[in-house]
Amino acid sequence: MMEAVKISEHVYWVGAIDWNIRDFHGYSTKRGTTYNAYLVMGEKPTLIDTVKKEFYGEMMERIQSVIDPKKIKIIISNHSEMDHSGALPQTVNLIQPEEVYVSDMGFKDITAQFHCDLKLKTVKTGDRIDVGGDTISFVEARMLHWPDSMFSYLEKENILFTNDVFGMHYATGKLFDDENEERLWMYEAEKYYANIVLPYSDIVLRFLAQVQKMGLSPRMIAPDHGFVWRKDPSKIVNLYAKWAAQTPKNKAIVVYDTMWGSTEKMANYITEGLREGGTEVKQLSMHSNHRSDVATELLDASALLIGSPVLNSQIFPAMADVLCYLKGLRKKGLVGAAFGSYGWNGAPVDELTKMLESMNVEIAAPAIKSPFVPDEKIKLACKELGLAVSKKLAEKIK
Ligand code: FEO
Repeated sequence: MMEAVKISEHVYWVGAIDWNIRDFHGYSTKRGTTYNAYLVMGEKPTLIDTVKKEFYGEMMERIQSVIDPKKIKIIISNHSEMDHSGALPQTVNLIQPEEVYVSDMGFKDITAQFHCDLKLKTVKTGDRIDVGGDTISFVEARMLHWPDSMFSYLEKENILFTNDVFGMHYATGKLFDDENEERLWMYEAEKYYANIVLPYSDIVLRFLAQVQKMGLSPRMIAPDHGFVWRKDPSKIVNLYAKWAAQTPKNKAIVVYDTMWGSTEKMANYITEGLREGGTEVKQLSMHSNHRSDVATELLDASALLIGSPVLNSQIFPAMADVLCYLKGLRKKGLVGAAFGSYGWNGAPVDELTKMLESMNVEIAAPAIKSPFVPDEKIKLACKELGLAVSKKLAEKIK
């Protein structure tokens, strides 16, 4: 039998570990993930969140190691995305709890996803429920990262259940921050923020201030992915504050694809110019990098340079893919420029500049276009572009 893990006097982790998932709706999860669900063993046993549908059996076994699941009286669904609600209908059908609590938007989303009556009851910020021996209060966390997102706070135990927020895609059998090595999880925490939370950074800052004002200072933060923060919950809170601030940094990323090596040559000279100008630079070919890793590198960058060859009068598909993805993440304060090679129609390279403009990127210079293979003049122009962007960044971070 799969066992629950006790995380505090009355709370057990009863989630599932997805060791081998490598693609989470287009986000590469090289270290897998977990779907955390928690069982609060008050007089009214309460289940906080469920798991992805396929992991229903694993969650149930873990619950059974503590209690007959049918004795659970309350279910709380903090977020309706299917990695946490997929197993909800089956769980409700088996348990027949007295109450299933969701936010207003959670009600809409869950109803629209499952098209069945789960007898949901809505709660809002400030509402409190008695779970027998302790109280759970609710804090809506709208747009962190869906409109329905909600936190649950177990008052006496001082544990905040934050769903996706403060989590990461990181499969681990060690359930606590102090059991996991920072050098292994830090990239995954950063990647999670960059790919899931970044567009809502202003909301993060407002929300952190609101939580502080409410006087919440949880001794444990229990998210629905990755591990539980018990030793130092402030660590992830402070990281969120830092990432959300998007403070300008002298760092650039050069993102490109190449057909016969010409655009790559241009990228090399732009990178060289940035390096010589004193900018930290990462050159990322879409042949070798996943869009979600590019997004992670963009998190603390202040310049985005993009390059593409022309294929059938279009930019390369991999560039369209990554630009569509990055646009959605709404990184602020970027400087940028475009470059690319072409055979007989260079116009599509200008489309790259338009794409940067649509992402509110400040254009540092017109696109550099190379007919076929870049000659010495174009190589020099590329290097000068790198140097010019470096200069702009240096001014920005003064
Ligand atoms: Fe882990 Fe928004 O779901």
